[in-house]
Amino acid sequence: ALPGPVLGIETSCDETAAALLAPDGTVLAEALWSQHEEHLPYAGVVPEIAARAHLARLPGMVRAVLEGQPAPAVVAATVGPGLIGGLVVGAGYAKGFALARGLPFVGINHLEAHALSARLPSLGSPPAFPYLTLLVSGGHCLLAETRGPGEHVLIGTTRDDAVGEAFDKVAKLLGLGWPGGPAIEVLAARGDPGRFPLPRPMLGRADCDFSFSGLKTAVATLVDDYPPGPLPEREAADLAASFQAAVAETLADRAARAMAGFLSRHGRASTLVVSGGVAANGAVRAALAEAASRAGFALAAPPARLCTDNAVMVAWAAIERLAAGFGADGMAIAPRPRWP
Ligand code: KG4
Ligand code: ZN
Repeated sequence: ALPGPVLGIETSCDETAAALLAPDGTVLAEALWSQHEEHLPYAGVVPEIAARAHLARLPGMVRAVLEGQPAPAVVAATVGPGLIGGLVVGAGYAKGFALARGLPFVGINHLEAHALSARLPSLGSPPAFPYLTLLVSGGHCLLAETRGPGEHVLIGTTRDDAVGEAFDKVAKLLGLGWPGGPAIEVLAARGDPGRFPLPRPMLGRADCDFSFSGLKTAVATLVDDYPPGPLPEREAADLAASFQAAVAETLADRAARAMAGFLSRHGRASTLVVSGGVAANGAVRAALAEAASRAGFALAAPPARLCTDNAVMVAWAAIERLAAGFGADGMAIAPRPRWP
C-alpha cells in the first residue's frame, strides 16, 4: 500500500480541481472551481482564459485541500488530452510540487480517469474488469472496453461533434445559455419529445460510432422555419425535448451495439459505465438503464459531480495505476493535448 495520500490535480479543460485521497481511495478533501463565469461572455471555453484562470486559482486550491491533512506521498496530474495551456499549468505545478518534496509524480490520461472513476470505493460495488465505458462530454464521445489500468480498447468514437457539443450548439440555436446541456434538460421537461421527428444518426449501424452534426443541422433547419427572434416557448420546449429524446435513443442504441459485441467476445455480460457531463442528463440515463437491463448489463453512472471533470478521479486513477504495477512517471513526461 502507499505510505500516504495521493494529491490529484485536474486542469485539462475549464474545471480547476484538486483532491486528496487516502491510499484506499477515501476522499480526504477536494476543491473544484468551474470557470463558467470566465467563459460565459464567449459562450464557450477560451483556451487562453482557461490557462490563466487555472494559474490564478490552482495554488490556493491545493493549499486548501492540504490544510490539516497528512502530507501527500504521491502527486498526480492530468497530462492529456486537453487544452495545452491548462495542461502545462496543472502538470507543471504538480511536478514542481513533487520535485520540491521529493515525491513521485504520476501523469494521468484524462480519459482513463473518467473510465476508472466508477471504481471509486465510496460508490460501492466497483465494476470488475473488463467493462464497457461510455464517455459523453463536451470534448469526448466514445465507447471503450476498459480491461484495466493502461488497457483500453476503443470501440467507437464520434465522426464529427461530441454529444455535449451538440447539446451546446442546439442550446445556442434555441437561445439558451451556456453550457447548454443543463438548460436543454430543464426546458425539455416541459416539452413533448414526440412533436418533432428528428433524425437518429447511426441508429442500427453495425459499428459503434457516433455522429451528431446531422441532428444539429436538422434542429437548425427547423428553427429557420420560424421568424427571426426567440422561438415561441411551446416550440422551444418541444424542440428541446425532441432533440434530447433523439440523443438519448441514439446513445442507447450505440451502447446496445457495444454490449452485444462484448457479449459475443466474452460470453458474458458486464457493466456499462457512463461518465462525462452528458451522463448527468436524466433522459440519457433512463435510456441507458433500459438498454443495459435489456442486455443483462449493470449500469454504473456515478453521481454528476464525479461524471463531470474533477480531481478525485485523477488521484484515483493514480492509485489504480500504482496498484496495477505501473511505476511513477519521470519529470520528463510531457503534456499531450492529443492522446489517442
Ligand atoms: O464532462 P464535462 O463537464 O466537461 C468536458 O467536456 O470535459 O462536460 C460538459 C458537457 C457540456 O457540453 C454540457 O452541455 C454537457 O456536458 N452537460 C449536459 C448536462 N450537463 C452537462 N448535457 C445534457 N444534459 C445535462 N444535464
Ligand atoms: Zn472530462
